[in-house]
Parts: sequence; C-alpha cells; structure tokens
Amino acid sequence: MRDFPKVELHLHLEGAAPPAFIRGLAREKNMDISGVFDEHGNYAFKDFWHFLKVYEAATSTLQTAEDYHRLTLAVLEESAAHGVIYTESFLSPDFCGGRDVGAWREYLHAIRDAADQAEKSHGIIMRGVVTCIRHFGPEKAKETALCAAETAGDWLTGFGIAGDETAGKPKDFAYSFDMAREAGLRLTAHAGEWGGPQSVRDALNDLGVERIGHGVRVAEDPALVEELAEKEVVLEVCPGSNVALGVYPNWRAHPIGMLFDKGVKVTVSTDDPPFFHTTMTDEYDRLSDTFDWDDGVFKTLNTIAANAAFCDEKTRANVLERLEKTDD
Ligand code: HPA
Ligand code: ZN
Repeated sequence: MRDFPKVELHLHLEGAAPPAFIRGLAREKNMDISGVFDEHGNYAFKDFWHFLKVYEAATSTLQTAEDYHRLTLAVLEESAAHGVIYTESFLSPDFCGGRDVGAWREYLHAIRDAADQAEKSHGIIMRGVVTCIRHFGPEKAKETALCAAETAGDWLTGFGIAGDETAGKPKDFAYSFDMAREAGLRLTAHAGEWGGPQSVRDALNDLGVERIGHGVRVAEDPALVEELAEKEVVLEVCPGSNVALGVYPNWRAHPIGMLFDKGVKVTVSTDDPPFFHTTMTDEYDRLSDTFDWDDGVFKTLNTIAANAAFCDEKTRANVLERLEKTDD
C-alpha cells in the first residue's frame, strides 16, 4: 500500500519526529533525555499518561524556529515516502514560543517555509491546525487560541484540542473554541479515545466541532453511532495508535470496520507514528489484513478525508483529482 495516495488528517508534528532526529538535537544541545528512549533507541512509555510526559520531554529538544523547520522537512519527507499527498498537522504554540504571539509567528513562518519546500520537492501538501493542550488548562488554551486566531488564514486553517482527555471538560474550553471560530478557523477535538461516548457528545455540543479526533468509543453507544452517520461527523481514526496504547487489545477488536459499515465518515491517520511503531503504509496494510478492505474502500476513505480537510476549495479539488487518478 506504500504508493497508494493517502490523505492524513490527524498527525501531531512533534509526535512524528523520528527518534534519531530528537537524539541528534539533544546531542547538539548537550541535553540528557535518556529517559525518553528504550535500549533499542525507540520511544519508551508504559501508558497514555506516561506517553504524554515522554512526548513533552522529547519536544523539549525543539527550541527554535529553525529546529521546527528541520523537523517539518523530516516529517513531510517521511509522510511523502508513504504515499501521503495531503497532511493536516497539529501544531502547538505551547511548544513553539511559549504561546507568545510574536514568537509563534516566527515558528509558524519556519514551518510553512519547510512545508513549501517539501511541496516543491515531494508534492506533499500540508496545512496546520493549532491545538491547545487540555492538561495545561483553559487559561493557557485562551492564549493558544489567540495565537491561532492571529495567524488564521489559508494555511493555518483549524483549531483543536489535544492532550489528556481525562482532564477537565470540553465546555471549560468553549471560550477558546469560540475565539477560533470567530477567526474563521475550522474545529476538531480529541474525544472518545479515553472518554466514552458522552465525551464525543460534549465535544460536539459544547465546542461545536465538525470533526472528532479518534471518537472510536462511540461504538459503545449504537444511538450515537447512528447520529454521527446521519450528521456526517467525520472521525479522525488512528487504529494503530489505539492498539499501541491499549484502547483495544488488537486490530480485530477495533471498531473502525463496524463504524464504516454503519455509514460513519471514518478516515485513517497515524497520530504519532514513531511512538506507536506505525506508518500510513502499516495502517493500510493492517486494515486490509484485518477487515479485508480493498483499494476501493481505501479510495472511499481518502475521498471522505479530502472532503473533510480544512483547506480551501482549490486545494481540495487538486487533492481529489489526484485521488481520482488512483486505479481501483
Ligand atoms: N493524543 C493526545 N494528545 C497528544 C497526542 C496524542 O496522540 N500527541 C500529542 N499530544
Ligand atoms: Zn492525536
């Protein structure tokens, strides 16, 4: 499936950093981040909450706009090598300049510059979605939303919330989502991964998001599954991430097959690929093995993703045209 054209809607930029890249930065800066890796040099963590800590420790090596320029190039090169033609990446002003709007502009400029370079050399299109970090609390989220609102446009196109889904409630962040919406940003929220079906209802009702990051736990509530299908809410499903973090014990137990069969608009992404030992190619291979999905199903999922992308219509038409050229 490596060369199959893919649209990815849920990728945390720092979470896509190859371990060797982070080790290289730590070496350059004489930082000791030994707790981040196992004896094989892979990211090491014992559960989701430990993952968030390790993620933040790895990210502490990224300290300048130039570091993010290099990171973005490395990430997009890897995504393009797995057939990704359009990627929406979660960006965090919390890590990029400590939520200072001026500093954030510099980081964003560097990330965009790298994205332009990667589009020229590898044909991959990137758009940015700012995420606030739930366990940093609603006050910091307001500052993050201001960074997003000040830089909203045809490249920085969305706003969302990541981090510890068990911290606080969606409505605590309503002010930030209102600010983002008023700035013209499109909205998504992580829900229904560590929270049950009600967490998805809350994200939809209290934040007014049009997409849900993960959302797979709606499978526990048949009425909600039906409602999502009817309302055409798009789920950014990351099956390999869910299995790696133990939300489901194995691929067979993952509800993406059932959700697709029930008409829910599901899409496929990697979340934090090296952390979860996955790539977009691996995701497609495992889905094909597990659910017997053929190229036609994958083309359908990519078309759903392209139609749900937070980009302008010209870019969408370009992406859809490239998908249309896929043989099935
Ligand atoms: N989930 C939630 N928050 C995150 C993640 C993730 O996979 N990666 C970085 N922040
Ligand atoms: Zn995520």
